[in-house]
Amino acid sequence: MATITTLPAPSHAGEVLLAAEDVKKYYGDDRSPVLEMVTVELRDGEFVALLGPSGSGKSTLLRILAGLMPPSEGRVLVHGERLDGPNAQVAIVFQSFALFPWLTVLDNVELGLLATDLSPAERRARAEQAIDMIGLAGYEEAFPKELSGGMKQRVGFARALVVHPEILFMDEPFSALDVLTGENLRQELLDLWAEHSIPTRAVLIVTHNIEEAVALADRILVFGANPGHIRVELKGLPQADRRAKNSAHAQLVETIYQIMTNPELDAAELVQQRSMTARGTEPKTGGSRARRYQTLPDVSIDDLTGFVQYLATVGGRGNVHELSRDLQMRADDLMALVEATDLLGLVDLQNRHVLLTPVGQRFADADLDAEKALFRQIALEQISLLRYVVRELETSPTHTLEAERVLDDLEHSFSSEEARRQFETVIDWGRYAELLSYDDSSGELRLDEEHRVPELPT
Ligand SMILES: Nc1ncnc2c1ncn2[C@@H]1O[C@H](COP(=O)(O)OP(=O)(O)O)[C@@H](O)[C@H]1O
Ligand SMILES: [Mg+2]
Repeated sequence: MATITTLPAPSHAGEVLLAAEDVKKYYGDDRSPVLEMVTVELRDGEFVALLGPSGSGKSTLLRILAGLMPPSEGRVLVHGERLDGPNAQVAIVFQSFALFPWLTVLDNVELGLLATDLSPAERRARAEQAIDMIGLAGYEEAFPKELSGGMKQRVGFARALVVHPEILFMDEPFSALDVLTGENLRQELLDLWAEHSIPTRAVLIVTHNIEEAVALADRILVFGANPGHIRVELKGLPQADRRAKNSAHAQLVETIYQIMTNPELDAAELVQQRSMTARGTEPKTGGSRARRYQTLPDVSIDDLTGFVQYLATVGGRGNVHELSRDLQMRADDLMALVEATDLLGLVDLQNRHVLLTPVGQRFADADLDAEKALFRQIALEQISLLRYVVRELETSPTHTLEAERVLDDLEHSFSSEEARRQFETVIDWGRYAELLSYDDSSGELRLDEEHRVPELPT
């Protein structure tokens, strides 16, 4: 049996099966739109997740794409043809199951085929096959009220899959189930999809669960509210990482968490920044601005050291949600701290848990002088901008450097506003490390001779 990990990566060059173009939607004569300028494509072979807060219009978009109601403006295209009326290529699984209580499982499933011209015998055969496939064999004659939530949703799936839909829509299909049941059903569905046991060519799932989106999707569309719109599109993880508890997985979850908890943030910029700081490596170059340094999170040294001390007092670990609550910090401020301390190797972020590393523990235990010495060492090792500045200071005959020069250099990599922020951060950290001093009135950086480091790592 094929497993999902051996599945070839989906081709993103797949044919566009379904598209929404500049879709806008008002309900009734309400003057504020529920959806504003939504453009999406669903391609052959894709599993796409639509992730967003409740009330942001996800279900509305699904109904429009399924042709259950028209957009107020814009259009829906099925294989390039304008859709007008129900979309015959699509079947939907709903959160609420939407079963007919007076019909048996078999009849509920067969109902999906009522609109087709199959003979009764063919309908029966198809329904039995779907029931078998989805693990409902033996329940054919049961009524919905006799079934557990998980079994009811299996009927929902069978009724959708019995039509052999080209596209499967799922609107929060696992949200009403208890966690284990949902997980189990989700995995079964994923196996059917991965093994091509169903002829479905694309799946669109609506969810408000970040982990679910990350576990399933090739592409994740993050929806914003008021009016509903796509804030950012993220590439899903490679198949092998989707269920793994590795750092790529944790970081994608974290990035999305940060986007979703900060509705006012520019999500695209955030994604770009995080992908660069994520591994503490030199970022990929992109566009005309080649970045030579990591982006330093905008974190003061007081907050940074305070955070490490705090973690040590609470046993060296903490969950980001609890930390954000206990420290009364906004999620994005906390994440900046986590990133900064992670960059320095003081903490490790694993699946939304921040863990103090052995170095972090040493840092927390050290007295002020030892703390500074340790910081000096790790900051020079890890922070490319600080290393660059100190090296320039070392090679300057006067051991000084004009702030302007550093800023100019930073502006090759960052916007001028961000360059200024980066500069201030590196000054703050460099001062604390007693590597340099800075005179704001003269705009001059000066090497701290006492602590100069003769052999800098490259
Ligand atoms: N049939 C309807 N008539 C009027 N308003 C609706 C209708 N359906 C949804 N809405 C409103 O549209 C907005 C988006 O709803 P919905 O698409 O269900 O969001 P989501 O699925 O993201 O939770 C909400 O404010 C909701 O109250
Ligand atoms: Mg909904």
